[in-house]
Amino acid sequence: MHCYVKENFLDRDVLKSIKTTVDWFIEERINLYPIRKVIDGRLVSLEYEEHNQPIEYLTDLSNLEQDTPSVRIENPLLNIPELVDVVFNKDLYNEIKTNFQLIPTIEYVKIVRHFPNKYLNMVNEWHYDNFGEKGIRVAVIYLDDIQNIEDGPYACVENSDKNKISNERSIFSDNEVEDYYNKEAFKPVFGNMGDVIFSKGNILHKSIKPSAKERTVLIINFETNISPDRTKDKIKLNWQDWYKIPVGKKELAYNMEII
Ligand SMILES: [Fe+2]
Repeated sequence: MHCYVKENFLDRDVLKSIKTTVDWFIEERINLYPIRKVIDGRLVSLEYEEHNQPIEYLTDLSNLEQDTPSVRIENPLLNIPELVDVVFNKDLYNEIKTNFQLIPTIEYVKIVRHFPNKYLNMVNEWHYDNFGEKGIRVAVIYLDDIQNIEDGPYACVENSDKNKISNERSIFSDNEVEDYYNKEAFKPVFGNMGDVIFSKGNILHKSIKPSAKERTVLIINFETNISPDRTKDKIKLNWQDWYKIPVGKKELAYNMEII
């Protein structure tokens, strides 16, 4: 299976506490990743940049919840120390290792809050990660209970790696995807805080835009071979935390910047 959920996989209380910190950062407008201005109703992350558009950032954050589809926490592993135990969690590592049958390295860790408003983040549209590269595995960890379409679940299309809609592009509209695949192929993945969704990055997927309430998610991308120039913005980790990682699991942090 390319996209499946493991229930009660992580400690709900730890995740709740992380969520409380995220709530506080967003309320105070602190420790947020620079927020790019929306262009044509849409926010494109730097790593998905396809055109060399000028980079403009939002400077007035007073109406953040209305002015941007989403925000990210800056340096999550430094600003939320409890996150380190989740990211280097033994069960998570073992699941990815078994799934991969190789030693995984973390490509990035993101905590993202999506707001219910009129703007779209690129991840709200159907896409393949990194143009469908094969090695990528993703752990999606909801920091809310997501039980309805309105809550903004992660969604994927089974077998869309073998049966690719196109090799030319990596982003597709709902209509294009609905026309190409049959309805049963669509899979919104519901879950509660503590459940983890494991997915391949080379299948077609998206985060459905929440319409009912804000939605917060922790996403960890794993890869086997990361070229040093692929990740522009390396995840920072304290050297104290680096030393605490058991020897057999240090590969997880090979792509991180130890400070
Ligand atoms: Fe993605």
